[in-house]
Amino acid sequence: MNSLRLLAESASTFATEWNWLFWMLVAVCGAVATGIAVLLIYWTIRYHRRRADELPEQIEGNIKIEAAWTVIPLILFLGMFGWGAKLYFEIERPPANARTVYVVAKQWMWKAQYATGQREINTLHVPVGEPVQLLMISQDVIHSFFVPAFRIKQDVLPRRYTAIWFQATKPGMYHLFCAEYCGTKHSGMIGWVYAMQPHEFQLWLEQGGAEGSLASTGEKIFHQFGCANCHHFDTQGRCPMLRDLYGRPVQLMNGQTILADETYIHEKILHPRAQLIQGFDPIMPSFDGQLTEEQLVALIAYIKALGPPPGTGQPSAPGTAPQIPEYEKGITGPRSTSISGSKPGAR
Ligand code: CUA
Repeated sequence: MNSLRLLAESASTFATEWNWLFWMLVAVCGAVATGIAVLLIYWTIRYHRRRADELPEQIEGNIKIEAAWTVIPLILFLGMFGWGAKLYFEIERPPANARTVYVVAKQWMWKAQYATGQREINTLHVPVGEPVQLLMISQDVIHSFFVPAFRIKQDVLPRRYTAIWFQATKPGMYHLFCAEYCGTKHSGMIGWVYAMQPHEFQLWLEQGGAEGSLASTGEKIFHQFGCANCHHFDTQGRCPMLRDLYGRPVQLMNGQTILADETYIHEKILHPRAQLIQGFDPIMPSFDGQLTEEQLVALIAYIKALGPPPGTGQPSAPGTAPQIPEYEKGITGPRSTSISGSKPGAR
């Protein structure tokens, strides 16, 4: 362990700028507080009433001083806001090529699932120098995913996916905490993030004991729960086609349009009648209580991996459909037919 340090180790691309912002805030707030305290004490002594009948000199205002005390703090604090906002937007917007890892939080552990099929509990293996996005959901109460060395913290909620991303900058093991009180063993809901050199990470993936990709696990669940009985992939019957659904706008019966993201698909499987889809009867049964969050993650990975209907020649709109990065191909062998059924490169 390192000797005394004021901040946690800095091990992500955010960390350096985060440190600068943090120390700037400390310095500015410290300087302002000190300045006020010093002037308060000095003026108290300098201008205290010396005689019982002493009257202070009346001052009518001073445009220069008033302008200065308005403009200087305005610039200072808007600068803080601007800098903080810039960093916030960076943290909120993962790069398009980020590797997605699904995280399920529960009392009291963290479960991670990789697109390539590896799973782990209370540990997370990531490559150095590559952006990693975590898509997280809770199967019970609110948790919070916190890795101080990466300067990332994100609430993990039930019934809604939240995301955070980071890019590790140096190999090592970094503490992972739950930062939201979540019950008796909250303090034990901890783990380690292992940042590894890319070749070591590749080795870890290959030895990770994955039995097929997450999407292929999702495909099995899709058939096991009879989803395929209604959701056909070539014809649109009484149920919506799931091909190319992810990332698309969906028209609801109440006139609203909603984006088919992970949370939408999750909600549709568990609470299909909460939002009815334009043009379809509400015949979908609820799978609430039948599927675990891990199975739901696999189903969503499967639906995300479905490309446009074969033969339509319709490429997915850029930026809306999921990109299957190189690393997802090949490591766990060929994808099953219905996933790879769409044109290569079309997704
Ligand atoms: Cu989970 Cu605190």
